[in-house]
Amino acid sequence: MDYNYLPQIDSDIFQAIKNEEKRQSEGMELIASENYVSAPVLEAMASVLNNKYSEGYPGHRYYGGQEFTDVVESIAIERAKKLFNAEHVNVQPLSGSPANAAVYFAFLKPGDKVLGLKLDHGGHLSHGHPINFSGMLYNFVQYEVNPETGYIDMEKVREIALREKPKMIVAGFSAYSREIEWEKFKEIADEVGAFTFADIAHPAGLIAAGELKNPVPIFDVVTTTTHKTLRGPRGAMIMCKERFAKQVDRAVFPGLQGGPHEHIIAAKAVAFGENLKPEFKEYAKQVIKNAKAMANEFTNLGFRIISGGTDNHLMVVDMTNKGVSGKEAEVILDKVGISVSRSTIPNDPNPPMNPSGVRFGTPAITTRGTKEEDMKKIVGWISDAIEARNDDTKLAQIKNEVKEFCLGFPIPGI
Ligand SMILES: Cc1ncc(COP(=O)(O)O)c(C=O)c1O
Repeated sequence: MDYNYLPQIDSDIFQAIKNEEKRQSEGMELIASENYVSAPVLEAMASVLNNKYSEGYPGHRYYGGQEFTDVVESIAIERAKKLFNAEHVNVQPLSGSPANAAVYFAFLKPGDKVLGLKLDHGGHLSHGHPINFSGMLYNFVQYEVNPETGYIDMEKVREIALREKPKMIVAGFSAYSREIEWEKFKEIADEVGAFTFADIAHPAGLIAAGELKNPVPIFDVVTTTTHKTLRGPRGAMIMCKERFAKQVDRAVFPGLQGGPHEHIIAAKAVAFGENLKPEFKEYAKQVIKNAKAMANEFTNLGFRIISGGTDNHLMVVDMTNKGVSGKEAEVILDKVGISVSRSTIPNDPNPPMNPSGVRFGTPAITTRGTKEEDMKKIVGWISDAIEARNDDTKLAQIKNEVKEFCLGFPIPGI
């Protein structure tokens, strides 16, 4: 991206941005929740739409001068509806956690019972963790993955639902590598009269591309972030059945938020336009192919993957048999220019700040154009770096190889 004013006006911030560009270009991004947006998405975010207050919704605003913000927001909504086959979409949530807060606010009263996947089994903080608003305000009961298979134990989910009679069941994950059985969740929810809420923040792009099953036609309400596999700006949206449209919209505004960020909504619209193109379908296919190839190579090199593999864009690898914790692995990999995020494993004996696993994902490296054959090299560097963790010369050599490799795959938007 070209900067015409920042270098003279604010050199400190300009330099930090340039340094980050360099870090991103020379390093390898394996954090499963990250991606690179296109130049048009960046341009929309940097537009004068930032200047506009537009509380309300298209056609019903509380400020004047909305003829163009209405165009932008309406296009974003229509494209999102088409992408996910959704009856109603609210594109205003500022990010994933606020979107989930709006859903709870729309459907529940404080103290209501909700089922959600436990954090160390792959769930998200906003799915009922005690230190998060969700766990503080609502009465969450957590379900888990089967300790032997690593898959969500649907029989157990049913057992818990029948016993607890929740008002809502949340299905979704931050660190789970298998398809979610949306129909089974719906069946269980119908048995106990619970609302169904899917949080597809992670696999949304793969779902939009038709590579994974879509819960939007089945579930009452679905949230997603727009910055992960959807490859859009940081933000979120809520999709729901038409009959819930009013309560969802009211929960977002005036319930929780004030003015929507129309420059971000414009960037969401641009990203959704990209998501509707055939090239994005190819991208989503490749994300999964790369993840499967990566998982195979980890297995070949003796790493233990939770559930034994992946159906999507990510995998959680238990580092215990390699003699390092997840945090240690994260620090070692940082030294060779590979960014990852430590992760708990199911029933982790270690605390969340120093858990046993690492989560790896392929959305970002696939955007750069890598293919299955590259995964062997990447996993080789990861394995070598962990083995050579006390050998600074070897680590410096790996870092150089990673940098050379990454510079061969330019980042869109840089
Ligand atoms: C499943 C899930 N939901 C919600 C969120 C929260 O999104 P944000 O960080 O945009 O608040 C995340 C973020 O990683 C997530 O993985």
